[in-house]
Amino acid sequence: MDIINSIHTNLISRKKEFFGNKPFPYIILDDFLEKNYFQLLEKQISKNDYLKKGKTFNSDLELNKKISLNTDLPEIISNITNVLNSNDWLEVLKSLTDIQSLKSTKVGNTKLANYHEMGSDGFLGSHVDHSLDPDTGRPHVLNIILYLSSEWKEEFGGATLLFNKNGRKVKAQITYKKNRAVIFLHTPYSFHGVEKLNNNFEIKRKSLYVDYYSETLEPFNHINLDFPNNWFSHGTTFVLPKTSDYLKLKNWRYTKSLLMYNINRVKTSFIL
Ligand SMILES: [Fe+2]
Repeated sequence: MDIINSIHTNLISRKKEFFGNKPFPYIILDDFLEKNYFQLLEKQISKNDYLKKGKTFNSDLELNKKISLNTDLPEIISNITNVLNSNDWLEVLKSLTDIQSLKSTKVGNTKLANYHEMGSDGFLGSHVDHSLDPDTGRPHVLNIILYLSSEWKEEFGGATLLFNKNGRKVKAQITYKKNRAVIFLHTPYSFHGVEKLNNNFEIKRKSLYVDYYSETLEPFNHINLDFPNNWFSHGTTFVLPKTSDYLKLKNWRYTKSLLMYNINRVKTSFIL
């Protein structure tokens, strides 16, 4: 059975749209998985709890979020991550992004969780992800997120939010919709997050996430962006809502990562 809908296996015609979207390049692919595969997936994930061995986040910026860090993702999900890491799909992404050195990662679900669930009132604040492949140290350059919950309604919230270059203003909002995929360029300035979920009677916001890396340390040189197109190293870095929040002891790890982020950002701009 095919997994990815054949209408999305050639994205050259979407390239202009991808690069034209703001605040940074992205595209939305509806009905991403083949109808039959998605129906099978829907049936299986609605009756299972895959996150028994997962990690729970419950801070102000990562509220009611769970990620799976176990290697044994069910086959119905790992089949999808395998396809998204395959050479064929990499070629599709290269033709969309013109990043010819694009690579998948061998890290797998143990370090970089692919499957996520967010519960009632959940929220994920404005952030940029890790900048390096944990194994190879290569730059993180692209993300795909796939929305899986078929019973989701728009009024539950949970849109993916894309922010301006300092992560403070929402510039684009991608509504959560079943079987919708979003591909976006992951630069050090690609701040993103999840809109706060409303109370939705325990229906989970389920999603699948796969990231991609580049062989070169200058992956964005060919792209015109509304912010500097250099890459630099940083950890997952969140933007806190108010400046005074950085002074709170409980937020120390967020303050530290933002400090490191800014040091590396400034250092790189001097080198250029
Ligand atoms: Fe993220």
